[in-house]
Amino acid sequence: MHVPFLDLTAQYRTIESEIRAALDRVFERGRFILGPEVEAFEAEFAAYLGVPYAVGVASGTDGLTLALQALGVGPGDEVITVSHTAVATVVGIERSGARPVLVDVDPATWTIDPAAVRAAVTDRTRAVVAVHLYGNPADMDALLEIGQAHGLYLIEDACQAHGARYRRQRVGTLGHVGVFSFYPTKNLGGYGDGGMVVTADPTVAERLRRLREYGWRQRFISEQAGTNSRLDEIQAACLRVKLSRLDEWNERRRTLARLYRESLRDTPVQFQGVLPDAEPVYHLLVIRVPDRDGLQAFLAEHGIGTMVHYPQAVHQQPAYRHLSRRDLSVTEQIVQEILSLPIYPELPEAAVGYVADCIRAFYRG
Ligand SMILES: Cc1ncc(COP(=O)(O)O)c(C=O)c1O
Repeated sequence: MHVPFLDLTAQYRTIESEIRAALDRVFERGRFILGPEVEAFEAEFAAYLGVPYAVGVASGTDGLTLALQALGVGPGDEVITVSHTAVATVVGIERSGARPVLVDVDPATWTIDPAAVRAAVTDRTRAVVAVHLYGNPADMDALLEIGQAHGLYLIEDACQAHGARYRRQRVGTLGHVGVFSFYPTKNLGGYGDGGMVVTADPTVAERLRRLREYGWRQRFISEQAGTNSRLDEIQAACLRVKLSRLDEWNERRRTLARLYRESLRDTPVQFQGVLPDAEPVYHLLVIRVPDRDGLQAFLAEHGIGTMVHYPQAVHQQPAYRHLSRRDLSVTEQIVQEILSLPIYPELPEAAVGYVADCIRAFYRG
């Protein structure tokens, strides 16, 4: 049996006619940047999340930078986040001019450890970026409490967590600003790059709209320094089609995740802990295992695609060794033991059974 890590074409086949109709609509209209599709998608995505404002941008990375800039966070400020994340989280912070301060993750949930955040706060700290890693909501109650106590902004990096919930509320809407990526492999992914920043604050939303397009309030008149970070009409039109399927696809991911958990009971495999009242969306199904490299090679021999997200924590990568950081011992342990297994809505249940059988065989020796 061959089980690819991911198969985006399988998903395309299920929505092909709607995607083609959406593309036709855009090409016939002849408007390609910040037009009616982006406007409609912003409204639909905001309604889906239950948040007043959504601003389309060119990527999740840009979204993080613009979110910080819109909140007035920049040079001289410190922003606390994790090292166990996509490097983009840290890139987004650095590009705002603020200094990332890296803290450890919780050993059970593998998301930002609130106690570590509390210990890292200084008088220069202005914000915390909480990453809902692999689609698993971080401990927002504890983080909101710390934020309130110290007057910090809480930004949610929800780039891997479209549709996940925490206390029945969609993630991205719990902090001051939420940031999403529409990179093609995401639970809600386009056919190219794209991103969205959401907020309940009208002033922040207004600043975001200006910042993404040269600081314009009115066309050709820059009121402040801005950039070019716009969502395009083709992506927005396709993402509107996909948004209508997101809940159904996330439910399927949860079913497959449950199946993995059940099939791998009584093995050395550990799963990511989920907080009570959190509903993850399994952007990735990551296990923690002994002899990770051995298992990955064994699965490859049996036709199973796997990946490691991520093989090095951010502070271990050449470009980021200089970053300010606290104790990262849980992070450094985790990166040696994690393995991402195939999970996507079109993956047949029999494939999960096969992957689980192979993992069991590996540990039986
Ligand atoms: C946790 C996290 N943050 C930020 C990003 C950045 O998103 P993008 O690739 O759209 O810039 C990604 C995705 O790559 C991500 O997984």
